[in-house]
Amino acid sequence: MSGPNSDYDPVEVTPLKAEEVEAMREAALAAIAAAADLDQLKEVRLAHAGDRSPLALANREIGALPPQARKEAGQRVGQARGAVNQALAARTEVLEAEHEERMLVEETVDVTLPVDRLPRGSRHPITTGSELIADVFVAMGWEVAEGPVVEAEWLNFDALNLGADHPARTMQDTFWTEPADHHVVLRTHTSPVQARTMLTRTPPIYVVCPGRVFRTDEYDATHSPMFHQVEGLVVDEGITMAHLKGSLDHFATAMFGEGIDTRFRPSYFPFTEPSAEVDLRCFVCRGVAGEVETCRTCRGEGWIEWGGCGVVNPRVLTACGIDPERYTGFAFGMGIDRTLMFRHGITDLRDIFEGDVRFAAAFGTEI
Ligand code: PHE
Repeated sequence: MSGPNSDYDPVEVTPLKAEEVEAMREAALAAIAAAADLDQLKEVRLAHAGDRSPLALANREIGALPPQARKEAGQRVGQARGAVNQALAARTEVLEAEHEERMLVEETVDVTLPVDRLPRGSRHPITTGSELIADVFVAMGWEVAEGPVVEAEWLNFDALNLGADHPARTMQDTFWTEPADHHVVLRTHTSPVQARTMLTRTPPIYVVCPGRVFRTDEYDATHSPMFHQVEGLVVDEGITMAHLKGSLDHFATAMFGEGIDTRFRPSYFPFTEPSAEVDLRCFVCRGVAGEVETCRTCRGEGWIEWGGCGVVNPRVLTACGIDPERYTGFAFGMGIDRTLMFRHGITDLRDIFEGDVRFAAAFGTEI
């Protein structure tokens, strides 16, 4: 004897009971109501109204029922299928409307959104700071001078009255280039630009020179083997120390605001005579009694060291072809990095050099 060759075997058909059809209908309606979107509804349609759905199978069984039961069962299953199809149609309409509405919202283009969402970089504070400093002097009619960072030993030292055996040479820990007999160094200060300027121009000379310098310093919070200086040089008739003091006072005010005094302390540089270290009135405590004692910036001094300066040594003028009987001049040199640290309260020099864009970005809006 062969087995049944389809799911439907009239021999095994049980009469379709009202509760069974009702349960199929309820299950279908519940699934339809629960379908959250059109995709889910498609699956529900397949499961509850498709060819293999319980109600479709039930429909097929009707033919195998005894004739007296067919009519009733046919009505029951037919009504259930009708209700399911109706519910499907109604749900489809609702979900289609919802879908359309959502698409309208999701696909809206906001034409007011900014088009450029890429984060912008910013110029480095050393660059903007150097320009700011140069501008202070350009506004007084000075010019910006430049020189190479790989410099002749003679211009870095000898022309500035720092002979080969001059003890001050050891004050500046020099990077020498190979071969040594070429006498080329990484400039240890911006002062060789003084010599270059005097050798190529005739007075009156009013120049400012911001630039990079190198010394074999350890890299720490206040030292770096590469840093920046700004050099100033004036050579004209009748120039005195008073002009130097006035220019530096103006520079300090431009950098740190009104009420910043400067102070000269006697010092020594071979290329200036007399020479001085220039100090700034501490920009935090301003030397005010009661505050200066506990000030951590100037360590209770009321003053902070800013740079070196002096009247150009006549020997330097002579070495650069300028008549010291007719002309006098002054020069100064400051650390730009140091100036910016004071100006912006930067406590670690390394922040300036480590290239974290978040650091530079904070200065990006300064004008
Ligand atoms: N060049 C000096 C230094 O680097 C600073 C300086 C410049 C001093 C000009 C006097 C005049 O220490």
